Amino acid sequence: MRIESPRYTERFGSVRINDVQKVLELDAGRDKELPLHEKIAVQKIEENTIKDIEEKMAIVIPIKDEKLQLFEGVISGIPHECLIIVISNSQRKGVDRFKMEQDTLNQFCHFTRRQALIFHQKDPVLAQALKEADYPDLLGKDERVRDGKAEGMIAAMFITMMAKKKYVGFVDADNYFPGAVLEYVRCFASGFSMAKSPYAMVRILWRYKPKISAGVYFKKWGRVSEITNGCMNSLISHKTGFETEIIKTGNAGEHAISLKLAEILPYASGYAVEPQELVSIFEGFGGVSPMAHPTAAKHGIEVFQIETRNPHLHEEKGEQHLDEMLLLGLGTIYHSPLCTEETEQLILSELLQQDAINPSEALPKPHLSAPLKKINLKRFTEVMEKHVKSYSALEGE
Ligand code: GDD
Ligand code: MG
Repeated sequence: MRIESPRYTERFGSVRINDVQKVLELDAGRDKELPLHEKIAVQKIEENTIKDIEEKMAIVIPIKDEKLQLFEGVISGIPHECLIIVISNSQRKGVDRFKMEQDTLNQFCHFTRRQALIFHQKDPVLAQALKEADYPDLLGKDERVRDGKAEGMIAAMFITMMAKKKYVGFVDADNYFPGAVLEYVRCFASGFSMAKSPYAMVRILWRYKPKISAGVYFKKWGRVSEITNGCMNSLISHKTGFETEIIKTGNAGEHAISLKLAEILPYASGYAVEPQELVSIFEGFGGVSPMAHPTAAKHGIEVFQIETRNPHLHEEKGEQHLDEMLLLGLGTIYHSPLCTEETEQLILSELLQQDAINPSEALPKPHLSAPLKKINLKRFTEVMEKHVKSYSALEGE
């Protein structure tokens, strides 16, 4: 793979945010040494380097009642060396959609000779393991893991820790193009190969997100992303005193984190999770408050934003869903101790303009779960391992 080198890096305390890097070539050929001048502008990431990182990476697929054909396409796009972890919150009553997902994954693993794990978010064993391991943060009043994409992602990150992986990546289950999925994961690996710090995050930016109405229009920005990015940049600008447009991936659902970084961040519920990750990084390592983790601060936190070649096409879930996502995302910025008056006003005016909030309504405060390192992983593993066989989709078992 060939990717632009980071041309510009913005620093905020010990956080290094790299400007967008475009994918230049999906396949950059065999290993050959490049002349030095070419290495400066362009990074060639060798296939072996990509595979070495993929081997250490789990790809988490959160899924809730998506079309099976889409799910099947998504898993077919995950590179062979990665461990697939599916965390499902799909319906079980009536038509057991979770069972159908299990069957699909089993068949895939049987024919591709690979390993995958699949869990249901509401499984009582998962809730029990979290409780016994002193991490009840994900549990609702019914003593089960709450609904929400983030809740699924966090549970899956504990499984990633159990599997002793070094990196975790997230890919939605409703993607129409398996080729795009393959590219996301290769971008994750490429980003980590460029990282100088073990505390790194790679966020995907799509070149296009097509809209289909009378014809196809290759739109670049979605409404939610545009507004979230603007408000996130306002947060940084007013804190540093220098206006910036560095953040272009505030909502990136497709993203990956080194486990070292993943373990020390708090996480917001549901769809607030991705913007909150950045807000937590700024709060913990932006230098305004005491550093959240001295070792990580010493290494620095590195954020990569990589723009893919494949367009992104997924299921349209309606305007109300988008308004909810906007509200939750902006809530993470609004309620941050870093948020200044100017950014608060910008957020409120954007929400009013979008009709996403009533003038008298308060912005939802994100529900935060503790950093993953709080868990007693030994205990979690003991409880889960007794059941892990029933979760494995391994060569058709
Ligand atoms: N396990 C689990 N539990 N999965 C869930 C849940 C849940 O409660 N809710 C949704 N999902 C799954 C969906 O099935 C899908 O695979 C993925 O999470 C994303 O949900 P969507 O409902 O498709 O979200 P979206 O497409 O509007 O937004 C996506 O992109 C945004 C921008 O990149 C999400 O990934 C957002 O988090 C992201 O900000
Ligand atoms: Mg979607």
